[in-house]
Amino acid sequence: MTTTSRSGIDPRTADRPSIIRARGVRKSFPLGRDAEIEVLHGIDVDVHRGEFVAIMGASGSGKSTLLYALSGIDPPTAGTVELDGVDLGGLDQAELEALRLDRVGFVFQQPHLLEGCTLRENALIPALWRGRRARAAAAREVDARLELLGLGGVADQDAATASGGERQRAGLVRALVNAPVLLLADEPTGALDRASSAAVLDHLAELHAQGLTIVLVTHDPAVADRADRTIRVVDGLVAPTDDPAPPDGTAPTTDA
Ligand SMILES: Nc1ncnc2c1ncn2[C@@H]1O[C@H](COP(=O)(O)OP(=O)(O)OP(=O)(O)O)[C@@H](O)[C@H]1O
Ligand SMILES: [Mg+2]
Repeated sequence: MTTTSRSGIDPRTADRPSIIRARGVRKSFPLGRDAEIEVLHGIDVDVHRGEFVAIMGASGSGKSTLLYALSGIDPPTAGTVELDGVDLGGLDQAELEALRLDRVGFVFQQPHLLEGCTLRENALIPALWRGRRARAAAAREVDARLELLGLGGVADQDAATASGGERQRAGLVRALVNAPVLLLADEPTGALDRASSAAVLDHLAELHAQGLTIVLVTHDPAVADRADRTIRVVDGLVAPTDDPAPPDGTAPTTDA
């Protein structure tokens, strides 16, 4: 059977509790003094607790913009986003930051690490901001994860001199330090060689098996194949999804 849906909502799971529920998301940016350009044109997305969703689409189609909108890092100009049942539009900046710090890990396409701090220190920063968790426990976990992702030997290196791939993996460790319920990852393997990419994907698969919900942007079909389903963004809209996988999940991703 072929079902066609003009949204990022999977009809097979539409009645499960959503961790992300976005409706009519639009995003515009100022263009010059009086004009603006709309990049997202009304996107609906549901992501259910425990899902692993890939987002694909051409460069410039709006994937990063969508991820920023879904996380509240750069809110939409129209539409609504509910994160774990909370309407982000109803929160002030401090509440939004507290929610993100507590429940969401974000891997930026460009890692934005603090130079002058080591990779280990960078990975620990969100744990220090949150403060509640014992620093020693967070530090042990960060060290274990840096080791697992092949960064054991460079943990004490200044972020300024680390390679792009090292910085990217440190950005992932930082996103995971507060044990989020949702990980939003923007091309987390984009700068990695095959072995490092496999280490990252294996670790994400392990966390997903433990219940972490993951939304991951990628240009690599092999990476998207690791996800439960794929949402395709085309020119600021979600492409129709054809032939979703059967409920037993035996078929590959539901690429449009
Ligand atoms: N702050 C901004 N001001 C103006 N235009 C912007 C801004 N941010 C993004 N855009 C534009 O929005 C469009 C979508 O950008 P976005 O970064 O979301 O694309 P993407 O799908 O993530 O691309 P890539 O695969 O290259 O990372 C692009 O045309 C980009 O130039
Ligand atoms: Mg991008």
